[in-house]
Amino acid sequence: MKKIAVFASGNGSNFQAIIDVVQSGELSADISLLVCDKPDAYAVERANTAKIPSFVFQAKEYGSKEAFEQAILAELKRFDVDFIVLAGYMRLIGPTLLSAYQGRIVNIHPSLLPAFPGKDAIGQALAAKADWSGVTIHYVDEGMDTGPIIIQERVRLDENETRDSLQSKIQKIEHKLYPEILQMLFTQGDVINVTKARAN
Ligand code: GAR
Repeated sequence: MKKIAVFASGNGSNFQAIIDVVQSGELSADISLLVCDKPDAYAVERANTAKIPSFVFQAKEYGSKEAFEQAILAELKRFDVDFIVLAGYMRLIGPTLLSAYQGRIVNIHPSLLPAFPGKDAIGQALAAKADWSGVTIHYVDEGMDTGPIIIQERVRLDENETRDSLQSKIQKIEHKLYPEILQMLFTQGDVINVTKARAN
């Protein structure tokens, strides 16, 4: 069974969705570790409740990204982690983790990439008065939300769409889609562009 580490920085609702499907048996994976860069993030409480070990750090206590990623890497090795799942981890992954986990890091992002990368994708879509936004799951490379896309799902923005309404539509999709795609990845190996494969 795949041993995974989930990385989160905030509420951790995607982390919770993954915990739930692992507990119900729908996702065959062992969540070995939560990595979190915000000590007061609710994700940490979720890990405690689920009795999942967590590595919580503050970047400012390390001299550089390389230094904190070396500390993360030591934890990943200690728990024998095979695969990294980013779920609202609001930092770019650096060369230390990328080279150790080449092709084994995925991310979920609340827009149809390449549209609205980086922070506050939901606010960006609203500000742009976009007709459509959505969710993207992709492999992680050195860029900001630029790695190869695995799947995208669209969401239509209503005329009176608010931040709350769009966020809740997007998160509803995320909580269903991420577990599904992780299960595909862990049972079928390398999966690329599921959206295209499904369309054909
Ligand atoms: C999610 O919507 C995720 O797509 C987004 O952060 C949110 C975290 O929510 N990630 C990014 O914006 C990454 N660039 P959660 O903490 O409740 O899972």
